[in-house]
Order: sequence, then structure tokens, then C-alpha cells
Amino acid sequence: MAGRLPEAWLRDLLERVDLAEVVGRRVMLRRSGKNLVGLCPFHEEKTPSFSVNREKGFYYCFGCQANGTAIGFLMAHERLPFREAVGLLAEEVGLELPAQEHDEQREQQQAQTRMLRELLQRAAAWFQAQLARSQEARHYVQQRALPMTQLGSFCLGFAPESGGLVRHLQGEGFAAGRLVEAGLARQGSDGRLYDLFRGRLMYPIHDERGRLVGFGGRVLDSMGQATQPKYLNTPETALFHKGQCLYGLHQARGAKRLVLVEGYMDVLALAGRGFAGAVAPLGTALGPGQASLLSRYASELVLCFDGDEAGRRAARRAALVLAPHLGERRRIDVVLLPPGDDPDSLVCRDGLSAFEACLAAQVPLADYLLEAIQEEASSGGIAGGVQQLRAAKPFVQALRDEETKAVLIAALAKRTGLSAERVERVLQGREETVRQVNDQAKDNGRRHDAIRDLRVLSLAERAIALLLMEPGLAVEMPAQGLPLDQDGVHGVLRRMLELIEQNPHHTTATLLEIMRIEPTFQACGYLHMAAGDMPPAIRRSEWQAIRKRLQEDGRQRHIDMLMNKMRRDELDQQEMGVLHELLRRGAAPEEHTVGRQGASSTPGGHVHKVTEGGEQ
Ligand code: UTP
Ligand code: MN
Repeated sequence: MAGRLPEAWLRDLLERVDLAEVVGRRVMLRRSGKNLVGLCPFHEEKTPSFSVNREKGFYYCFGCQANGTAIGFLMAHERLPFREAVGLLAEEVGLELPAQEHDEQREQQQAQTRMLRELLQRAAAWFQAQLARSQEARHYVQQRALPMTQLGSFCLGFAPESGGLVRHLQGEGFAAGRLVEAGLARQGSDGRLYDLFRGRLMYPIHDERGRLVGFGGRVLDSMGQATQPKYLNTPETALFHKGQCLYGLHQARGAKRLVLVEGYMDVLALAGRGFAGAVAPLGTALGPGQASLLSRYASELVLCFDGDEAGRRAARRAALVLAPHLGERRRIDVVLLPPGDDPDSLVCRDGLSAFEACLAAQVPLADYLLEAIQEEASSGGIAGGVQQLRAAKPFVQALRDEETKAVLIAALAKRTGLSAERVERVLQGREETVRQVNDQAKDNGRRHDAIRDLRVLSLAERAIALLLMEPGLAVEMPAQGLPLDQDGVHGVLRRMLELIEQNPHHTTATLLEIMRIEPTFQACGYLHMAAGDMPPAIRRSEWQAIRKRLQEDGRQRHIDMLMNKMRRDELDQQEMGVLHELLRRGAAPEEHTVGRQGASSTPGGHVHKVTEGGEQ
């Protein structure tokens, strides 16, 4: 991640990249004062609240608080992983990706990944060999009419009822712990190791690059389907993340159109008969990660679901997850099969042409949504209209494509007899959205509209805001050794001070990128806008004052802690000495104490406050 690219290189990259250009290619921007502004690509809005600071290399949205650097922008906008976003920018500015820094932790991780991959490969080979040996399994495959000769790249296998994989792999020298890590075995309460998959047809699962990451296993109908779940998947492991994977995607890549079906068997039945492009989620409803994957690999998507009630419900949910990806350059259609059929049963009975005939009746996503919205209304008349509007809300809000949205709204207006403006107002839930944003901001302990107002921020937040805007302040006036807590906002500030100390050349953008991996920082990420309006001349005195107050604040917290202990009679001799020293230090007049605590940091103030506390 961020920390593993050399900082100097990252800094170089961000200095060369013109954020205004990167964003400008994707969002219409116009000048407004020092910044560029436009409509935020990350939430729906009519007036621009998305602002790009070209000079500092970051963007910020006052509406939804999306923020970051050119790297973050590409990650969010193009849905790219960090490395790919970095690679893209590097290519753009003609910078070579650096050779990997020697990093022991990373090397260990890589070795572990290699080992897991090797383990999975061997397991897959073993499963394949078992399929060839098991008459029962081959019989099942035949009975399901799976065209095995056409399914070579799917590498199907079989896990015998009697197990044997654990023994086999241990015989090859793999330690027990590794087998559990790979999701192939589990440890029983007796401490022994058991095969996780037994009596199952095994479907190796590959990621989109064709690397084996896990397995799905289907119970043979003859082997206790009544008592066991029909399907079992590899649990989440270092390699296997169910929500980020689609079965069959690697084989389907390159197809112009991807067809999302419900099950493993459907993918196999279609691929085995020469139909390219079938993919399925892995035993869960389609998630946002999978929706992004789908839309990254095809400009035409078809959602194909069973026409029964459960299938329709699943189709509506998938439509909602995919709605944000609909656009001028990506069409999404929906197909409902005859109730009771899935693609597998259909092609087994009537052949591939029957499935293709169903596909030909595909309905564009927006029309499907309109139908689905009507279905959700159980009655007609006014109540029905109300139900429809309610049902429409999540769909309309999920759509990013303005044209589709406008036409859908017009259709709903016609149905309900309202004006389109009115429907839009109701559906956008504009007021509600603003309220949500405010509530969310309040949850973070600050009001949305007060982001620019440094006064409502805590001391540490103000410090972070200032340093993000002007890291050089901490070089000029260092602040090492401030009494800061380990976690929370203090922890973030600590880490920033360390970074700046290690490297005095940090810029706003490089700090943002390096801090990105710190979870707490993500909640503070917007702070860099907070100091933006403060004139540089004032920043120095502000930083000086904040440093003093953080020092004083720490002293006060330390005193409070010791006083509390004293009250509980838990203070030892040494701590008593520390307390005296702390109180004494407070008695020395401070040079410039400012702000909220200014009054109480006078010598008398402290002593008085502390004494008061002690008497309670
Ligand atoms: P289906 O029950 O439709 O299975 O579940 P299928 O793929 O058509 O298999 P056959 O035709 O009965 O052999 C659809 C998908 O839901 C997941 C699997 O991913 C399956 O492919 N599933 C189903 C589970 O994860 N666990 C289960 O117990 C059942
Ligand atoms: Mn099926």
C-alpha cells in the first residue's frame, strides 16, 4: 500500500501530476477564486460543491465530503485499487514505477501468498484426480449433463466422502496451520484436522486474472443432501474474498456481453455449451464490489434471474446494486426466465437456443425498474401511488445517469399525476439528504457547515488541519514530544509529526496519500480544507499557539489523571513528585496562551481548578 512505495517517489509523482487535468478530463470544472469547482461526481447535485485545489493537489466536496489527491480521485472515480491508480498516473507523467523497496513484512506476506497459492493448486490437482477415480462422481456429472470436455479451464474435481486431502497435503510437507489458513481444513474440538470438503463436486474459483483463490463444493445428491448444505465455499482467507469475486469471470473476460446468472451450475452449463460470458456471484447476493468488477469488464451487462418470487426479489436487489453503473457507455438489461427454470435446467432440457431466445427478450434496466416499482405497490389509487414513489426512491437515488433518471421520473409523474419537479423533489429527498449529511457530520463531532470554521475543531484537529495545509510549519517550529495520546485524533497527529520529522519535504498531497492507510485518518481526511482559508501569515502564530495549548492540555490531562488517583488513594511517592512538578510548572507564567483555555491557564486558574477537583 501507500507506505510501501518510496515516499520520495510518491512525492515526485504527485508533484508532476496536474490534478486539475486528471479531474478535468472527467468532470467539468470552472474557475472560482483560487480553486476550480464543478458538480461532484460522487453524489447527485445541481449546484457545484466540488472544489479542486490545483496548487496543493487535492479535491474536496462540500456536499458529500469526498476528498483526496489525484490518486484517491482515480481510485474512487475509476474504482481502481491503489497500485493501479498510481500506475496510471505514473504512466501519464512518464515516471517509472520504482523497484520495490526491501520490505521484510511485505516479503513475508508475499511468501505466505505464494505458499497458499501452491497449496490450493495441489488441492485442485488432487480433487481432479479424485474425480477421475470416483465412479459415483463421474456418474453425477453425466447425470447433470455437464459437457466436461468443454470445461477444461474450470478444472472441476471431487472431494470424496472419506476425505483424504489433509493426509495427502501433510504428506507433501504442508503444516496443519497452513491447511487451515488456506481454507481447506478445519480443526475439530479434539484438536485433529479434518477435510473441510467431503462428498462434494468441487468447483475451483479463480479471480479475474485466472489465479486460483478458493473452492465451491456441491454435495452429490446421493450423499446426504438432506443433512448438509447444498453448497459449501472456502471461508474468507488471505486469498479468497467472496464479495470481490465472480465465478467464471476469468473465462468470460473478453466477451462483449457479460450475463450474470445465479449459480455455479448455470455458469458451467452455459460455458460447456459454448456460450461465452456467463458469470455468477458466490452464494451471496450481488454486492457492490462485484458490481464494479462486472462493469469494469463489459459495456453490456445482462442480469438473468429465475422468474419465481425469490428470483424476482434477487433481480430487484441486483438491479439496485448495478444501477449506479448504468450510463451512456454501459447498457444493463434484465431477463426473467420462466418460473422454476434456471439457465442450467433450461439448456439441459431445451438446448442453448432456448436460453438465447430468453435473452432476446431482455428489458432495459430502467424499464425493468419501472415495472418492479409497480409490482411493489399492492393497491391502486392514492395509496398505490404513494407506495410506488416510496419503492422508486432507492432506485432513482442509485442512478447516476441523468437522462435515464429524468425519463424514469417523467414516467412516475405520469403514473401518479404529479409534476415531474414534484416527483423529483420527493424522490431526491433533498432535504433529507442534507439532513443526513449534517447528522453524519454531527456524529463526527462537528457541524457540516462549520468545516471551514477552525474554531469548532478540537485542538488536535486544528493542528492536523494546519499541518496538512502547510507541513513546513512543523519543520520550522517542531512539535516533537507533545503529550499526545496514542489513539484517535491524537494518534493521527503524532504520526503526522513523525512523518514530517522524517522528511521535511512533505506536501499536502503526499501527507494525504501516506496517511491514507491509517483508519482514524480517514475520518479526519477532510480537515485539509479547514485551514485553506487562513492567510499564511496567521498560520504561523496559530501553529505556535496550538502547540502551546496542546502542551498545556497534556499537562492538564496528566494532572487530572494523577488527581483522580490521589482521590482514590492510589498515588505513590514518585507520582506525588510528578504531580507537584506538574503543578509547579503550571505556576510559571505562560507567554501566549490563547483561546478557550486562555483564561484558565493563568497560574492561579490552574491551581484553583485542581484544588477544586480535589475537594469534590
Ligand atoms: P441454486 O440452488 O440455484 O444452485 O443456488 P445451482 O447452482 O442451480 O445448483 P444445482 O442446479 O442445484 O446443482 C444458486 C447459488 O447459490 C449458492 C451457490 O452459489 C449456488 O450456485 N448456494 C446455494 C449456496 O452458496 N449455498 C447453498 O446451500 C445453496
Ligand atoms: Mn440449478
